[in-house]
Amino acid sequence: MEKELYGKKALITGASTGIGAATALAFAREGASIIINYNKSVEEAKKVQEKVRNLGSEAFIFKADVTKEEEVKQLVDFTKDKFGSIEILVNNAGDLIERKPFIETDLNYWRAHIDLNLTSAYIVTKNSIPLLLNSKNRDRSIINVSSIAAITGGGKGAAAYATAKGGLKTFTKSLAKELAQYGIRVISVMPGLIITPFHQKAKTEDIEGWANRQVLLKRAGKAEEVAEVIAFLASERASYINSTEIFVDGGWVLG
Ligand SMILES: NC(=O)c1ccc[n+]([C@@H]2O[C@H](COP(=O)([O-])OP(=O)(O)OC[C@H]3O[C@@H](n4cnc5c(N)ncnc54)[C@H](OP(=O)(O)O)[C@@H]3O)[C@@H](O)[C@H]2O)c1
Repeated sequence: MEKELYGKKALITGASTGIGAATALAFAREGASIIINYNKSVEEAKKVQEKVRNLGSEAFIFKADVTKEEEVKQLVDFTKDKFGSIEILVNNAGDLIERKPFIETDLNYWRAHIDLNLTSAYIVTKNSIPLLLNSKNRDRSIINVSSIAAITGGGKGAAAYATAKGGLKTFTKSLAKELAQYGIRVISVMPGLIITPFHQKAKTEDIEGWANRQVLLKRAGKAEEVAEVIAFLASERASYINSTEIFVDGGWVLG
């Protein structure tokens, strides 16, 4: 069977661990060539690169802090040198840097979350659009990894993070309006509670207990379950999915 992403080149931000790493592997299984962006986790990024190459796909790693435009410009230049163009951009890098009750937060805390989870997507997208436009492929896409927090307001101590993810969901809609004329689809993916290093860093307590109460399937998800959806959305099988959000949350109990 023909691989669904064969011939496509992808830039994935934050692909050293978790959902981004799983997405790199899902893309590789479908034949895409990949730039694996990372910031701190160089050893993990190298392991992802090795796994992608073992699957027979091309992969390069590049360190860039997505909140810093100069570093993102270097990432985009590197991608241009290697591939010339891209067909897929996944804005995945993000984090709940620290859970904090809103009344204990300050402006630096707020700005750090908006920078990492929203402004980063602006910086990466703005600089990557020429690479997407360079491609002659008729199907190109930008996939923004938002969060169920965009809808729920997030768990305890996550107001700044949830607000940034809400902004990212809106950014998807605005961008889709402007990029459809170039044949570029823009979609948000909204993961629920997914077991990744994110929750160790964010000190999420009792993940399975939370999932048991909040998720119809009564379990947390795996990074691979989100990655499969991202790979589908980046493929031509999703050629009529645009300007919307896809939830990968096991059925979130709202209210
Ligand atoms: N896990 C969940 O339950 C969940 C739910 C909803 C949404 N999400 C979203 O899913 C995305 C991936 O998170 P994850 O769960 O897979 O967590 P993760 O394993 O902690 O992955 C986060 C990734 O983002 C990268 N990153 C962080 N800061 C960066 C920066 N300044 N510049 C470049 N890369 C940076 C990390 O790279 P380094 O380690 O190399 O710095 C890492 O590769 C995030 O946007 C997160 O908000 C996660």
